[in-house]
Amino acid sequence: MSSSLLQVTDLESLQAEIKKWRDAGDRIAFVPTMGCLHEGHLQLVDMAKANADRCVVSIFVNPTQFGPDEDLEQYPRTQEQDCKLLAARKADLVFLPSVAVIYGDDVDSDIHVPEELNNQLCGKDRPGHFDGVATVVARLFDAVKPDVAVFGEKDYQQVQVIRWLVNKLKSNIKIIAAPIVREEDGLAMSSRNKYLSEDERHRASRLQHILQMIAAELRKGRRDFSDLAAEATLALNKTGWKVDYIEILRPNLTQPSEKTREFIILAAAYLGKPRLIDNLKCSI
Ligand code: PAF
Repeated sequence: MSSSLLQVTDLESLQAEIKKWRDAGDRIAFVPTMGCLHEGHLQLVDMAKANADRCVVSIFVNPTQFGPDEDLEQYPRTQEQDCKLLAARKADLVFLPSVAVIYGDDVDSDIHVPEELNNQLCGKDRPGHFDGVATVVARLFDAVKPDVAVFGEKDYQQVQVIRWLVNKLKSNIKIIAAPIVREEDGLAMSSRNKYLSEDERHRASRLQHILQMIAAELRKGRRDFSDLAAEATLALNKTGWKVDYIEILRPNLTQPSEKTREFIILAAAYLGKPRLIDNLKCSI
């Protein structure tokens, strides 16, 4: 394992390291995370390294993106193991700021995502979630000033929020959306999968299969999008899931029409305690 992973917790040290690389003409890629890293995150690191000379990863469990009833305190913190994984994957630097380093005394969101992007899918029942994501990513971008930033497409709506943010900030950071990394049975990798019981884990790939079934129906020519989503919801609910949403949209997250040829099918559902999300692109 490489031991050259730099670990920094304050802005001054972060920027001093980054300046050395900038002075040497290096391009910098950035992967923001909340830790509890799995192979999906590590493939973001691989992609970052393939697109720049240096790879900076942040691990920061961001309080402003958690609602009052959400699992901020219980969110798994596995920093030591995360750093080992990052070192083995040859990331150059991990930024591990405290809440005070990012927010000072004012732990609040100061960026507000437009309603049409915010008030649907994962944002609908999580008021303030994407404002928190946009706020922390803006602060992290400002700290790291990367050329490239890599985000996982499992959080499809988040990627759209980040693209909106970069536009709003008039930033030149190139956003790379990395494809979903899946387990052998098709389950999208997620830090939350570890909360599935053995039985739930066996059944968890059903979420992906339902999305594939919808895609097959779209390819056959069905265009009754809400009926199709309702049927899939019923089928999943009958097998012990509790569907939050299943939606068939255009890739820019607007409603499709009869003429739409490119779709994104998105789902969020509880299987026992964990809420799993997944999505599937479908071209006709
Ligand atoms: O996807 C995540 O892990 C988080 O939402 C992010 C982008 C690191 C912001 O806290």
